[in-house]
Amino acid sequence: MKNNYTSNIDIPQFRDDLIQWFEKEQRSLPWREDQDPYKVWVSEIMLQQTKVDTVIPYFQHFVQLFPTLEALADAEEQKVLKAWEGLGYYSRVRNLQSAVREVVGSYDAKVPDDPKQLGDLKGVGPYTKGAILSIAYDKPEPAVDGNVMRVLSRILRIEEDIAKPKTRKTFEAVVRELISKENPSAFNQGLMELGALVCTPKNPSCLLCPVQEHCQAFHDGVEKNLPIKTKNKKHKQQSYFALVIEDDAGNILLEQRPNDGLLAQMWQFPMIEMKTVDEKHLSVYVQEKYQVNVKEKQRIEPVKHVFSHITWHLDVMLLYVEGDISFNENGKLLSINEISDYPLPVSHQKIYKQLK
Ligand code: ADE
Repeated sequence: MKNNYTSNIDIPQFRDDLIQWFEKEQRSLPWREDQDPYKVWVSEIMLQQTKVDTVIPYFQHFVQLFPTLEALADAEEQKVLKAWEGLGYYSRVRNLQSAVREVVGSYDAKVPDDPKQLGDLKGVGPYTKGAILSIAYDKPEPAVDGNVMRVLSRILRIEEDIAKPKTRKTFEAVVRELISKENPSAFNQGLMELGALVCTPKNPSCLLCPVQEHCQAFHDGVEKNLPIKTKNKKHKQQSYFALVIEDDAGNILLEQRPNDGLLAQMWQFPMIEMKTVDEKHLSVYVQEKYQVNVKEKQRIEPVKHVFSHITWHLDVMLLYVEGDISFNENGKLLSINEISDYPLPVSHQKIYKQLK
């Protein structure tokens, strides 16, 4: 049954215009070279919170290191995290690896084309599921992310708040009606490509748009007011000392973060919230915690890092110490060169670069 949003659009013409444009204008991207479900999966996970230009070299390196599901399933977790280093949202790749292990173990190393089985895999949400089913398996399933919601909110003048989780369902219902049953892959990728190249967030290029004549928002002159998106919760500021603790042999202490939460299992220079200690008492704090004598303290360039919901302000302190550094099982004492084998968050890579 048709809902209100699609009652004014010429669906067959819209499909044709979108797909023809996509086939002619699509960018040549490494994950478009074949329909290997594993590679489609990897690319879609990488692309979820990260821009295409950033993803390209990571994707190439990743599929070179782990060319198949089996290779990724068998890989050491630290090596996998290292290949993701700098992309952020590291739980994406930990979930990907556990899901891939399940596919190898339970589905004979074949990515399921059954929506239920696929959607039950770790980290495979409705968007990823639809992207794999349509792009790798030519199934007419919706793949709705923020970009697709932006594009369709304009074309169909949908004024629902896209920050609300249930709004995605409205868009999925609409895509089920619009999608080409002959070429669902080009249809879904066409919407994504249109969002990336033409129907951009701030200044959409409506005059160049292949589906301009179908666009209700353009017709009404309201394209810049769409989509409607309320702001999410307040962004937090957190201040830390990041400590580069170096012993007489020139080794530096690195610590692994906990198994859950922000940057889980990544490695970092020890951090102390500034709420806990002020700079004057930092040496005493370090002496007690690590059972060493601080010989010299030096401040290097501070580092700021913006996450989706937090900003970190790191005051970076170089501490030269004498005595055996006492640390727990999450710590490792490493030479400057050994540190590069460990996956560090971007903020700590910035610290590392200053040391090198
Ligand atoms: N963004 C999300 N998925 C994409 C894809 N397959 N190609 C280009 N951009 C994308």
